[in-house]
Amino acid sequence: MDDSVLETIGSPLVRVDSPPGTTVAAKLESHNPGGSAKDRPARYMVEAAEADGLLEPGDAIVEPTSGNTGVGLALVGAATGYDVTLVMPASKSEERRRVMKAYGADIELVEGSIEDAKEHADELEADGMVQLRQFENEANPRSHYETTAEELLDQLEGRTPDALVAGVGTGGTVTGIGRRLREAFPAMDVVAVEPERSAVLSGGPVEADEFQGMGPGFLSPNLDVDLLDGVFTVGIGEAEAECRRIAREEGVLVGQSGGASNLRARDVARAFAAGEDPGYGDVTAAGWEPRPDAGESGADPLVLTVFPDSGERYMSTGLFD
Ligand SMILES: Cc1ncc(COP(=O)(O)O)c(C=O)c1O
Repeated sequence: MDDSVLETIGSPLVRVDSPPGTTVAAKLESHNPGGSAKDRPARYMVEAAEADGLLEPGDAIVEPTSGNTGVGLALVGAATGYDVTLVMPASKSEERRRVMKAYGADIELVEGSIEDAKEHADELEADGMVQLRQFENEANPRSHYETTAEELLDQLEGRTPDALVAGVGTGGTVTGIGRRLREAFPAMDVVAVEPERSAVLSGGPVEADEFQGMGPGFLSPNLDVDLLDGVFTVGIGEAEAECRRIAREEGVLVGQSGGASNLRARDVARAFAAGEDPGYGDVTAAGWEPRPDAGESGADPLVLTVFPDSGERYMSTGLFD
């Protein structure tokens, strides 16, 4: 028996349909109690703020969030006794708002992007709330370093992964998992996935905010670009088509970023199996250089990816219609 719902945080690693001669395996983060990968940083950020004396009983938490971090914080706030206010762009899905409210959180909607939500959260912070700042807070990538990656090391059962391919929002997921796995597997590639129309890492345009949770439109301080071997972009249409395919053909219900990541994870696995260079795009951040062995793999390549949340969180958007 667990003492708290927070102790149930964790997820399975599942082999998904993989190109011949390869294994693509995904962390099904919808299995976390709040339904996404964000339960992990939510718990870690609250615990770090308590340890640093920034958060005390009776305090209220505020965070700008496009959704899943809000759900995670609402859950952790309910489980630990803090009031939580979440500031989110009005364009994000209705399910998320309802779930946050179900956990007792207050929601403030702002017109515009996550940048506008950040501004409003700063105002509430100035009025006395405690802001956890998922884009800067080191506890965010650390949560993935200490939990997601440690679970993976166990779940790999001795196999050596050739690449990690993961979507980037705050960068906490790819940075935390990438750092820990790179320690264990120095030759492993770490590859970011970002929206085609919010392609900051690829040096592309920032013209649309189409993916929930991915592509914030700026270079997140929590993304360690030096870990990356390269970056891929994905269009919203192909990502959503992949969500429908995985659900119907494999029985795995994932959100947009999971569909996007799976597409590129399969591309990488296919290239490895054919002995071809997967063709990672360069990261445009200052000082970034590809590692010499980027794009190489062993026999029977294994590519890891992350499905950050469930397709259920997107029903009202018509994704599966
Ligand atoms: C659905 C979804 N996908 C991907 C991500 C990206 O994860 P990270 O912020 O760790 O980069 C998030 C983050 O909120 C998300 O909610």
